[in-house]
Amino acid sequence: MAEQLQQLILDTLDTQSTLPDSRALKIPGQSSPASSHDAQITILGALNSLLSREMITYETHEVSSHVLTPEGVQIVREGSHEARVWAALPERGSAPLSAQDLKKAVGDEAAKVGQGRAFKSGWIAKEGNGFVKAVSNITDTTQIELRELESSGTLVAGEKALAELRKRKLIMQRKGQWFTVHKGANFSTSIAKPETDLTVDMLTSGSWKKSTFKKYNFEADGIPTSGGALHPILKVREEIRGIFLEMGFEEMPTGTFVESGFWCFDALFVPQLHPARELQDTFYLSDPSTSLPPPSDYYERVARVHEHGGYDSIGYRTPWSHEESHKLLLRTHTTASSAAMLYKLAAKCRGEDIDGDLSVKSQPGAANLSDDGFRPAKLFSIDRVFRNETMDATHLAEFHQVEGVVADRNLTLADLIGFMRTFFRKMGMKNLRFKPAYNPYTEPSLEIFAWHPLLEKWVEIGNSGMFRPEMLAPMGFPPDVRVHGWGIGLERPTMIRYGVNNIRTLVGHKTSIENVENSPAVMF
Ligand code: PHE
Repeated sequence: MAEQLQQLILDTLDTQSTLPDSRALKIPGQSSPASSHDAQITILGALNSLLSREMITYETHEVSSHVLTPEGVQIVREGSHEARVWAALPERGSAPLSAQDLKKAVGDEAAKVGQGRAFKSGWIAKEGNGFVKAVSNITDTTQIELRELESSGTLVAGEKALAELRKRKLIMQRKGQWFTVHKGANFSTSIAKPETDLTVDMLTSGSWKKSTFKKYNFEADGIPTSGGALHPILKVREEIRGIFLEMGFEEMPTGTFVESGFWCFDALFVPQLHPARELQDTFYLSDPSTSLPPPSDYYERVARVHEHGGYDSIGYRTPWSHEESHKLLLRTHTTASSAAMLYKLAAKCRGEDIDGDLSVKSQPGAANLSDDGFRPAKLFSIDRVFRNETMDATHLAEFHQVEGVVADRNLTLADLIGFMRTFFRKMGMKNLRFKPAYNPYTEPSLEIFAWHPLLEKWVEIGNSGMFRPEMLAPMGFPPDVRVHGWGIGLERPTMIRYGVNNIRTLVGHKTSIENVENSPAVMF
């Protein structure tokens, strides 16, 4: 078809040297009038193809024409709303039709619009509770005009009538084009398909000398490059990691997805009977099901503080279960890793000579510190945790936690709050609120809320607190050392930032690779 049309254009030019108006061309095999918008688009395609081979040149002329809206098309077929209302009504003298029955006869829309217009034209009259015809015949000008427009593209009645139909949204103005075509430098009536590649065969046979080559199209879009792309969660993770690093934090190793009940709960002074430890909340391993024993002195101290208290605490006064402590599980929070790191940080305080990678090596004024072995530390981690959750749009059984802990002498709750304000400001959250909360391992504990300007509400973003002496003292920290910590989710900020409202499209088998590839590298 495309080639037939090109041939027709060339043949026309051959006999009459220019084609003054492309609307006169009858496109082979197409029934719509050559003046129509679609026809001119088809012709433009053919012209461009011939132009690229310099067989023709052309000029473009702009015109504006009118097309019917779907409502206009309906009126051409069924008559205007007012004509349909008139037609549905009985003659004057017979029983009038109620407003309700009129709606049933012509539909709500036509009844509403048509009634008013039919009254205004004096076609119908009110009688009792209903309507009757006021005249015995009508001329449906709207339908007649739309019909004329549909077939000829214009109205003899002129611009005023057109404006009225536009106002009634029955027609739309459309910019159109038509073309004047001339012969080009390479004009001929036979279309030789241009070569797109120079091949070895052409070179050896010499046929390239006589071939015509297709011109390069430097305007064409290139093939999209394919390559690796970071998942939105990884991007937000990098951003958060950057904030921690610029605030002087060190990253904790968190490769231990599997932990023991001891490190995940006992070391944190979570009671052995705490509901979070139950099967419906925590995934336990069946094979192997028990851990190697934790460091024995420390284990003894932790067991003692749970069962009998100590360090000014009365403890939980419930029997200690070795079995509970040795169970292997998928960690439910990264605070399990924080506990292990804090235990390591306190090694020198316990008099053990481990060269922990945590101690601040060249702390200014370090010589003035008392020699109890304690060195301040700022640690963070961002990694996966697992909970036996029912999955829905905002919950999965595995997700990421961002966690920070700071250990120093005489830290206060104000230090924790001040620190969080700085951290979250760097993440773009200025408006924060803190609400008293409960964690078995922190006292006091604070939930963190941030004002969400798009959702226009306070959303919970994290949980924090000052670690309890029952947790820190058995590790061997001196009594003036305080540790505060906090945790936030990674998925929620990512979802908010990337406008994802179902977590299952962000993580898991429903994630679309295309979305990952196309998600912006940074968001402001
Ligand atoms: N572990 C807590 C949670 O899972 C977060 C937290 C970390 C709270 C450190 C206090 C201190 O929500």
